[in-house]
Amino acid sequence: MLGLSERDKKRLAYGFWRYTEDRVDDAIAMLSLARENGIDHFDTADVYGGASGFGGAERLLGAVRKKAPKLFDGVTLATKAGCDMASPYQSSPAYLKAAVDASLSRLGIARIDLFYIHRPDLLTHPADAAGALDDLVAAGKIATVGVSNYSVPQIEALTKYMKAPLRAHQIEFSAGHVAPVFDGTLDQAMKRHIAIPAWSPMAGGRLGAHGPEAFAAVRAVLARLAGEHGATPTAIAIAFLLLHPASVTPILGSTQPERLREALGGLSVTLSRRDWYDIVEAARGERMP
Ligand SMILES: NC(=O)c1ccc[n+]([C@@H]2O[C@H](COP(=O)([O-])OP(=O)(O)OC[C@H]3O[C@@H](n4cnc5c(N)ncnc54)[C@H](OP(=O)(O)O)[C@@H]3O)[C@@H](O)[C@H]2O)c1
Repeated sequence: MLGLSERDKKRLAYGFWRYTEDRVDDAIAMLSLARENGIDHFDTADVYGGASGFGGAERLLGAVRKKAPKLFDGVTLATKAGCDMASPYQSSPAYLKAAVDASLSRLGIARIDLFYIHRPDLLTHPADAAGALDDLVAAGKIATVGVSNYSVPQIEALTKYMKAPLRAHQIEFSAGHVAPVFDGTLDQAMKRHIAIPAWSPMAGGRLGAHGPEAFAAVRAVLARLAGEHGATPTAIAIAFLLLHPASVTPILGSTQPERLREALGGLSVTLSRRDWYDIVEAARGERMP
């Protein structure tokens, strides 16, 4: 379903936050590797693109699609709107509708498979945002709806007014950031059958070998478990996310083929309950009560 994990089938996705518009051949190489290994969910946003500016990652994907259209066969392509550098957040109906039109044009498609509000806009009434999302579904411009970085009450407020089902809640979740396990986010998702795409599954690289001191305890546990399971620490970090009973889909962000292969290894690792709690305890710096 949407190329995302389900209870009985765990999946990975691939994300474009770290790409600039010019990296067409790099993106084709990484997406080829991802597709060969069963990844069929690509994640981007209008605001991604780094030095190539607003829309850069979507323009890149539009160019990739033109050059290598088969890479998109059967793929769910997700994008987001609602963040810009100036506002910083905007979810008014007029803004969301214009943003979707602009994304469709940059991506070179007629309909977005999964469209997210990127971050909650505290100045838009949830009924207005919900109405805009329903209108976009009715107009055939977006197939399904998600939100990202919402709190549990913010999702309750939005969904009270929205007719379309909320299919995904994209959140920061990693072995270095375990808050969603405790703050009700994952419980809400399991209760309401909302998929959980997890961003920065390697804590943006901070779980890698040269990460900062603040993540040293987690890295040490990942390294120990890697030895015990005959896997890489990256695979252990991904397996940690996949073991949670919510439908979690790590969105891999590395731009290096070797690191993508290491992360794919997470699909073949099954951590024990003790392994999983060891990571949680290291991340929180305290034992479970
Ligand atoms: N909804 C949101 O608000 C939101 C926010 C952030 C991200 N996202 C989505 O989530 C995707 C993934 O996020 P992310 O890029 O932060 O993922 P990530 O995998 O946690 O971080 C990727 C970064 O860490 C580095 N890295 C990865 N594995 C490493 C390792 N084993 N050792 C050392 N460095 C490592 C990568 O460098 P190399 O490229 O050199 O390997 C890259 O700079 C994004 O592309 C985007 O689609 C969404």
